[in-house]
Amino acid sequence: MTTMAKPRPRVLVTRRLTADVEARLARDFAASLNAEDRPMRREDILRLAESHDALLVTSIDRLGPGFVDAVPPCIKIIATFSVGYDHLDIPAARARGIAVTNTPDVLTDATADIAMLLILGAARGASWGDRMVRENRWGEPSPTSPLGHDVSGRRLGILGMGRIGQAVARRAQGFCMQLHYHNRTRVAGGKEHGARYHARFEDMLPHCDFLSIHCASTPETRKIVNAETIARLPDGAIVVNSARGDIVDDDALIAALASGKLAAAGLDVFRNEPNIDPRYRALDNVFMLPHLGSATPGTRGAMGMRAVDNLEAFFRGERPRDLLTGA
Ligand code: 8YV
Repeated sequence: MTTMAKPRPRVLVTRRLTADVEARLARDFAASLNAEDRPMRREDILRLAESHDALLVTSIDRLGPGFVDAVPPCIKIIATFSVGYDHLDIPAARARGIAVTNTPDVLTDATADIAMLLILGAARGASWGDRMVRENRWGEPSPTSPLGHDVSGRRLGILGMGRIGQAVARRAQGFCMQLHYHNRTRVAGGKEHGARYHARFEDMLPHCDFLSIHCASTPETRKIVNAETIARLPDGAIVVNSARGDIVDDDALIAALASGKLAAAGLDVFRNEPNIDPRYRALDNVFMLPHLGSATPGTRGAMGMRAVDNLEAFFRGERPRDLLTGA
């Protein structure tokens, strides 16, 4: 008697992933890989999804609103290659019985490193300094210009004290910064790293020479950094964002940078990437990066492995470690 091998689950992978991750996907699944890494349109993903059991998507796919509701019934799990999941409607997935997983932990250090780079780069004028050297505009050095802003010993407010916020606090301690944080709930003492808790975001703002954003993008946090909240920051404060662009109101941030209310900003994330608000490009006091938070081979490889771990657990009938749709 011959026993039929159980068919491998069919996984549609929307973007090219690191070679080790793709090799594992090809070994353990009937995987449709995107060898050319061509960005796929929402309608193509939805059409191809009809012949798959699972989707491995990224936060840079243009899935659009209502994607989860539009996914065909054959899809049992969506694993996103990101810690953020604002591109997926979790209640809709739960209602439809579709599992959703993300990739926390493995990108915490890389993202916290980028947040420190933003703090340092914005404060010390890394962008304009680099341009001066590159464009041969260095000129005659002077003791009084150009000058940036101090980082060491100054006050840092952390918005969102999750894994990444805590990792930034640990790093900022090394710069002798005085730490403050706002989070929906106070975190356990050992996770505060000496930061003072503010139950209301508004109350933390007057204590922030630097404000670093680390909360998730949710209906509650969208545009939480706006004209009103920026007005509560000390004059000459610096805002850095390595979380999601839509947490900031671009009009308010750009106006505050242009007027000098804010001394500088450091931005790794933007609303509507990569088609960012063009007014940022004209501001000399903004240090900008193209969403590099998790962009190292080790981190991107670990994110891919974590996504595959979640898929494998699910198809073994276990609860995936990073299940977002669980009870
Ligand atoms: C992106 C991120 O996923 O994890 C997140 O939430 O924003 C990033 O790590 C990555 O840049 C796109 O693939």
